[in-house]
Amino acid sequence: MRAWREACEAAIRASSAADALRFWRISHEVGGCQEPVFDYRFEHTLAVVKVARWLAPQVEADPEVVECAAWLHDVRKYLKDAQGKDAHAEAASAAVEEILAGSDFPREKIPAVRHAIEHHVGLKLTKRLKPIETACLWDADKLSKLGAASLVHFTSISGAFQPTTTERILERGEAWLQLAQGIVKSMNTKAARKEAKRRFAFISNHYRQLRREWSDPMKTSQA
Ligand SMILES: [Fe+2]
Ligand SMILES: [Fe+2]
Repeated sequence: MRAWREACEAAIRASSAADALRFWRISHEVGGCQEPVFDYRFEHTLAVVKVARWLAPQVEADPEVVECAAWLHDVRKYLKDAQGKDAHAEAASAAVEEILAGSDFPREKIPAVRHAIEHHVGLKLTKRLKPIETACLWDADKLSKLGAASLVHFTSISGAFQPTTTERILERGEAWLQLAQGIVKSMNTKAARKEAKRRFAFISNHYRQLRREWSDPMKTSQA
């Protein structure tokens, strides 16, 4: 029987790498294989899995449900899909059963994984999500959009969508900070909210420093 983590990782790797290759339209040859310039979806998923592993035990959520949902929450999300109706949560939920078939993931936990995936979208919440596993996935997904790794991911994918410059990255980053404030307030769990505040302070400082360097370098050297 296949290990469920292995099945999940293989599924997201396959879909995200193919999509990244299609999207970038250029690749690097590594060991005879074509690799995308940057596989955003896989890197983002890894970030969500790491947060999920950290968060679930702190809030007494089922760690298998939360981690499995983290691996698969964006398995049917594709780059530049934004123009069409976004149904990636429903599509990912519908794929869960098939991806886990033949693996050692407890079948009775599949509905909880699907529920979490179906409710992970959006950057703001008006009420706390339930059950705790669903709340945890939302928090882990949004925490991955704040902090140091999020800056690496954003900068790395930026040039794939449009020509990029330092000024454009800065403008988009400053606009993102406005949205990010809403994310911090929407966190379902206390532990995630505390970490979100820490990460928000970090990215705010990053863009403040970048603004100083880019718009007013003399002020930077005097500081
Ligand atoms: Fe998503
Ligand atoms: Fe996500």
